Formats: sequence, C-alpha cells, structure tokens
Amino acid sequence: MNFELQALDLIGAADEKADLLVVLVPQDFKAGKDELSLLIASAIKSGDLEAAAGKCLALFRPLQAAATRLIVAQVADAGARGVRTAVLAALAQGKSPNVKKLLLCFAADAKPESVRAAVNAVAEATYSYTATKSKPAPRVLAKATLGVPNLSAVANEFERAVATVAGVELAKEWANRPANHATPQLLGKAAQALAGHAKISCEVLGPKEVAKLGMGSFMAVAQGSDQPLRFIVLHYKGAAKSKAPTVLVGKGITFDSGGISIKPAGEMDEMKFDMSGAASVLGTFKTLSLLKPAINVVGLIPACENLINGKAVKPGDVVTSMSGQTIEILNTDAEGRLVLCDALTYAERFKPRAVVDIATLTGACVVALGAVRSGMFSSDDAFAASLAAAGERAQDLCWRMPLDEDYAEGLKSNFADVANIGGRAGGAITAAKFLQRFTEKFAWAHLDIAGSAWKSGAHKGATGRPVGLLVEYLLSQLPDK
Ligand code: BES
Ligand code: MN
Ligand code: ZN
Repeated sequence: MNFELQALDLIGAADEKADLLVVLVPQDFKAGKDELSLLIASAIKSGDLEAAAGKCLALFRPLQAAATRLIVAQVADAGARGVRTAVLAALAQGKSPNVKKLLLCFAADAKPESVRAAVNAVAEATYSYTATKSKPAPRVLAKATLGVPNLSAVANEFERAVATVAGVELAKEWANRPANHATPQLLGKAAQALAGHAKISCEVLGPKEVAKLGMGSFMAVAQGSDQPLRFIVLHYKGAAKSKAPTVLVGKGITFDSGGISIKPAGEMDEMKFDMSGAASVLGTFKTLSLLKPAINVVGLIPACENLINGKAVKPGDVVTSMSGQTIEILNTDAEGRLVLCDALTYAERFKPRAVVDIATLTGACVVALGAVRSGMFSSDDAFAASLAAAGERAQDLCWRMPLDEDYAEGLKSNFADVANIGGRAGGAITAAKFLQRFTEKFAWAHLDIAGSAWKSGAHKGATGRPVGLLVEYLLSQLPDK
C-alpha cells in the first residue's frame, strides 16, 4: 500500500476526491465557517457523533465533500490510543470493495505519535493474508493519504511510521505462513532476499558449518527433524566499521511440537508462530533498508523445527553448547533457550555494543503479562530503560521483569553444568536466567514475546510485534535523539 502525507485543513480536505474520507475529530473540535466543519459541529451538537473515542457517523455522497463516502470519527483527546481506536472503527465501518483510495484527515493539528498511530491502524485494518489461499483476496486499499494541517511538525514521524509498517508487514507475513511454507531453508531465502537492498548482506549457514562452530545445543533441537537447520547471519552496515553493532537474535523455531516432551494437540497449530522472533528480525531489517540510518546492526537467526523422529533428542540427554557449558535437556519443549544460547555465544565475535534476543519463549510469560506487553529482561538498567521508552514511543509496549540470582536455583543439574528447565513457578524468569549464562561478554536484553507476537481465536494471526519497538530502539542511537 502506498502512503502519502499532505498539508490539508478541512477546507482543503473537502475538495479532495477519494473513495472514503475519514475525518478525525477531537472532543474540543472548533468549527470553522466551511460546510464540512459546520456539518461536524451540528453532528456533535445533536449527539449523533458521540463523545467517546471510536464513535463514528457515516454518510454516502455527502454534499459537503468531494469524496464518495464520509466517516466522521471521534478521537477524544487526540492521543495515540484514541486515534488508533477511531481509525480502526472508521475503517471497519467503511470497509468496502470500492474503497481503494482513502483520505484520512486530522481536523486539528496532529501530534507526531497520533500520526504514527494512524499509519499503523490503517495498515492493520487493511492487511490481508494471501500466501496459501487458492483465491487470494489481496488488500483492497491501494492508497492512503494522511491530511494534516501541520505537515512539517509530523513529516519525520510519518516517514518513520510508514517504513516501520513495511517491516511489521514482512514480519507478519513470515510469522503467519504455516510451517510447511516457512521452513528453515525458506527463512534463509527470505533473509537472502533482504540482502538485495543496499547496505544489507546475508550469510546462511547449514548443518555442516554449524557443527564446525560447535553449536551442540542448537543441533540437539534440530536433529529430531528431517528439515535441515539454518543459521542466518544478516548485516546492516549504515555506519563506519569501527562503530560497534547492535545484535538482534531471533528465535526461529519454524514449528514447535515440543519434541519427545510433546505438547497437547489443542492449538498446537499455533506453534507455527514460534519463529515470530526471527520474523521480527527480518522485519526490522526491512525497515532499516528503507530508513538507512547511520548505525550498524547484526541479525542472527537460529532456525529449525522441534520435531520427533528416531534421532530426536531425549529427556536426560546432555549436550555441549558452543560456549563449552554442558546442558541437561530435562524437557525437550524448552527448546527456544537451547537454540538461542548458541546464537548468543556466536554474537560475541561482533564485539557488540548491545545484544537483544527476541523469542516466543514461555507460556509463563503469557500468563504473567497477557497480550498487552512483551516481557523484557536485562541486567543493565540503562539498556532496560531505553527499550521500555522505545516501546512507549512505538506503542509496542514491554514490561521489565526481574533477574534475581535466586531464580536460577531450579536450573541446577546433577549431570551437567545447567539444566534447561527450572520449576513451573516464575517460568519466564528461569528461562531468562538460563539465557543470561551465555551473555557475560556484552550488554544484553531479552524480549519474551510469547503473548504479544500473535493473536489466537477468530482473528488468529501474527501482530508483527516487536518490530516497532526494535526500530525505535535502534534509531534512538542516532545523534539527534
Ligand atoms: N514456544 C514455546 C512457548 C510458548 C507456549 C509460546 C505457548 C506461546 C504460547 C516454548 O518453546 C515452550 O514450549 N516453552 C515451555 C517451557 C517449559 C517446558 C519449561 C512452556 O512455556 O511451556
Ligand atoms: Mn517448546
Ligand atoms: Zn518454542
């Protein structure tokens, strides 16, 4: 979809041709003398446009505007949340195969975060998954123009939001694809396709190379599947070589059956989303390719299936990780940490300024935080604060969780240096404590996106999170921020 930003007040908006004009009206709307303003003012006065965010009033062939359809939508205080609610409501109501060109206008000066929220909401409301449909129904909306009275104040934010949406949609696309259409090999190809962009390069390692590196923990997970593993290394080089990179590590389990510690059948299909961390790394690189910021970023994706053939790893097996630490695999369903630990050790070679891993790691995190906030863990207070702030700015929220040493108690093993599970209690934290053992050489944070990466139920589908948070965090390194 094509986004455009235009300087428009309501007088200008009324003259523009569009299939649908959505006017975002704040509670304190001050009407001018033009017809469109007067229409809105009288709708407010009569009570037909109610005061709560998301309340809408729709008209067909309005006399007051050149657009074919008009929806007036209430945004309450015009903050990001109200704008999001209003845009989603207006586009749900205005959904029609005839709406190819949308004009979305702010009736008063727009805040940068509200412009971002509007762009995100338009993209979200019109996204359509098509990859595995025999009669694909692609997105109908071809062009969305945002009209604001104060263009120069929001132009930067607009550009950033549009580029971020492209990354979010790439992440959604790959996360949504079923496991037989998103194998480790296909993920490798998707990463290689990104290397077509300037400043991005990609290297994809297979089983032989990974064995040579000594990634015994990653290999233990992959050995139960007939699909060969891939270890993806992406580079975005936007700054001088001397500038230390940020490394993003994305969990790329293309399907998680649990292995021998097999999962129950109900909703097991959702374990195709277990590569959402990997998808968020691909999406973030897509956005970097569009914004071209002066930073260096490395993306690492350990990709494999967690399956159950005759060679599958068994509970009690002890494996040697790339770090040299031995691991007793007490539960083969705690596989995410097993692939991530070797990728974290691999990250050392880049002498990173910081490393963030992103993983659908634990059901316990879903219990703790639900779908609203991702779990965030870091032993570095400044790092944790900047990730939290990036999440707020992007409206892609996270919440810091603890890492007290006492939480590592349960990971003790009689037969190896560490076990891959602790008890049930505090499961998201013990998983993070396991990962922390492999991060001594750099500043590290871990995002558990088990609750935020996809939606279940009737609207089952990937959210593209936390691409927004990651992009915002990476850009916060730029000098002017
Ligand atoms: N991919 C799952 C985590 C998960 C479960 C994400 C449900 C989203 C929804 C992960 O590999 C896993 O199976 N974790 C186990 C860990 C346990 C065995 C210690 C879990 O959370 O049950
Ligand atoms: Mn698992
Ligand atoms: Zn998993």
